[in-house]
Amino acid sequence: MPDSLFSRERAWSLLNEHTQSPGLIKHALAVESCVRSYAQRLADASGLVGDDREALLDTWSATALLHDFDYEKHPSTDEHPFVGIAILTEQGWPEEVRTAILGHAEYSGVPRTSQLAKALFACDELAGFLTACSLVKPTKSIHDVDVAGVKKKMKDKAFARGVHRDDIVKGAAELELPLEDHIANCIAAMQASAETLGLEGSLPASS
Ligand SMILES: [Fe+2]
Ligand SMILES: [Fe+2]
Repeated sequence: MPDSLFSRERAWSLLNEHTQSPGLIKHALAVESCVRSYAQRLADASGLVGDDREALLDTWSATALLHDFDYEKHPSTDEHPFVGIAILTEQGWPEEVRTAILGHAEYSGVPRTSQLAKALFACDELAGFLTACSLVKPTKSIHDVDVAGVKKKMKDKAFARGVHRDDIVKGAAELELPLEDHIANCIAAMQASAETLGLEGSLPASS
């Protein structure tokens, strides 16, 4: 059983205690959907079942939800994610969670050695980019996003300028996946959570 003190549920509460912006909450949920899909792959590959499997999924979900939980109040590189890490340390969150969160910020200098840290870094910028790719579709739907279209948008420097393409490429390499596979995995994960992410698309106007 996941320790209830350090569960996805607790992470969700902590995120909402510190974050008002619906966009940041959606970002956390989008990253969670992608990271959790990699947790499922790892659990499958390792033959994890039952409580062990649930514990892995819960820890990876919680980490993704918390990776930017201090960002709204402390966005500078001097403070994010260090203020959040101080809070997590005080609360006794596991080292694995804290190290992965530090690793998503390259400037922290903390290396990404665990699969969790690699997955978090790989999914962070890509989830944001896939959201942007969805929102420029007439339907605003993640279901209309495909790998070829995403790769094309990655070359369009004027599109979603804030997203670091290099980090997406580096993230896939750290996961030892072809970029196309990583993009496809994250599209599928976000499609499965489309409703939660507000990316299920608009219904055609009734006549
Ligand atoms: Fe961040
Ligand atoms: Fe992020």
